[in-house]
Amino acid sequence: MGIKSAQPYINGEWITSGRESVPVISPYSGETIGEQILATKDDVENALAATFNAKKQVASIPSYQRAQILKKAASLLENEKERFAKLISLELGKPLKNTLDEVARSIETLELSGEEAKRLTGETLPGDASERGTRAIASTFRVPVGVVAAITPFNAPLNLVCHKIGPAFAAGNSVILKPSSQTTLIATELLKLLLEAGFPENAINMVLGRRQIAQQIVKDDRVNVISFTGGLVASTNICELAGMKKVLLELGGNASTIIHDDADIKRAAVMCARTGFSNSGQSCISVQRIYVHQSVVPEFTELLKEEVVKLKIGDPLLPDTDVGCVVDTNAATRVMDWINEAVQLGAKVICGGKQHGATVEPTILLNPPKNSKVVCDEVFGPIVSIIPYETIEEAIEETNDSSFGLQAGLFTNQMDLAYKVAHLLEVGGVVINGTSNFRLDHWPYGGVKNSGIGREGPRFAIEDMTETKMIVLQLPVEE
Ligand code: SIN
Repeated sequence: MGIKSAQPYINGEWITSGRESVPVISPYSGETIGEQILATKDDVENALAATFNAKKQVASIPSYQRAQILKKAASLLENEKERFAKLISLELGKPLKNTLDEVARSIETLELSGEEAKRLTGETLPGDASERGTRAIASTFRVPVGVVAAITPFNAPLNLVCHKIGPAFAAGNSVILKPSSQTTLIATELLKLLLEAGFPENAINMVLGRRQIAQQIVKDDRVNVISFTGGLVASTNICELAGMKKVLLELGGNASTIIHDDADIKRAAVMCARTGFSNSGQSCISVQRIYVHQSVVPEFTELLKEEVVKLKIGDPLLPDTDVGCVVDTNAATRVMDWINEAVQLGAKVICGGKQHGATVEPTILLNPPKNSKVVCDEVFGPIVSIIPYETIEEAIEETNDSSFGLQAGLFTNQMDLAYKVAHLLEVGGVVINGTSNFRLDHWPYGGVKNSGIGREGPRFAIEDMTETKMIVLQLPVEE
């Protein structure tokens, strides 16, 4: 693929030199595949000014044109899906199977954003519900907030950027993007594609670099909405610095999937294997805690193991690889520490449990205690834990006994029970007869508690990236 360059894009110009640069290293091979040019403090200031100056221009583009641009971006991406998928696999170590899927989802996210651009509607509210309003009528409009700051993570470096830029632009906002410093090549390629699709020059600016850059953006009063996906520590810092800005947070989880005694155990095992290890578990809704009714624990454990040992570990660029590496060797070492902690506290390793460079083998743990990190923190690695329960009430209580609440899964053949449990689980979404790790891009996605604030999915994100503007017509009182 050759050496590539990730560059900041500011005020209509790519910054190609004259700045500090750092190598981009493929986590799987350890090879240098490119360089990343870091933005300076002045660059960030220029990017903020350019984004701010563009907001009126972007707001004045009619929504049908914003829709056309987003649809064009989707079709350009369709033409280049293999190239984009390979680049994500190279830069992140995410298997090609997963990255082809991510590109397909990104195309949908851009298309959906384009469709939603045309659905920015309002209401007509007669005033006569109040005695003082018998001759008044109000109309509401969705108007852009102005400047959206998008701060995005590494784990789905294309689709999660589309989930912010798509709705922000659909709503008529300009955007300043700070992608994860671990996936800047793919962000650069996406930006080039958006410009080719017709994004006006300053509708989007991109800065690359370290945490201070994000902090500079978050503090700046020209920014109206901050849309962040990432970890709890960074989000707390954002909330402290953001002042009165609206903050949208899509954070982590330690997702639970409950397997009840009447469920189709084979199907549950197959789905847990498929969705607990994709992208090496680096998804906020990856299957992490599997609460299994004690009567089916032996059967489920055996079936899950059968599926997991079949997963092909290896080069993310090969089409049949199921599990690649995690984002870097430090992350792999951290995941191993968590496995070892769980084992010391009494968990049993059913399979996996070894590290090879940045790769961690898909690991099943049985019975880790409640206070182990693999149960109570977000693993973001290829580990699932089987935890037996006696009663469904206990499974609900254990699921809810978490500082997180993003999504949960539940396998049972009793639909009345399923709906009852779903209502009792303290999470943003519940998947019945599926695992926690299922998301369609037009659905509302987000969590409660430490899993975030607000919902993604173009229609829902647009709600948060627009303001309600009311225009009142007050007729003269009749004589
Ligand atoms: C995430 O990690 O929150 C993204 C999950 C997804 O889009 O499938």
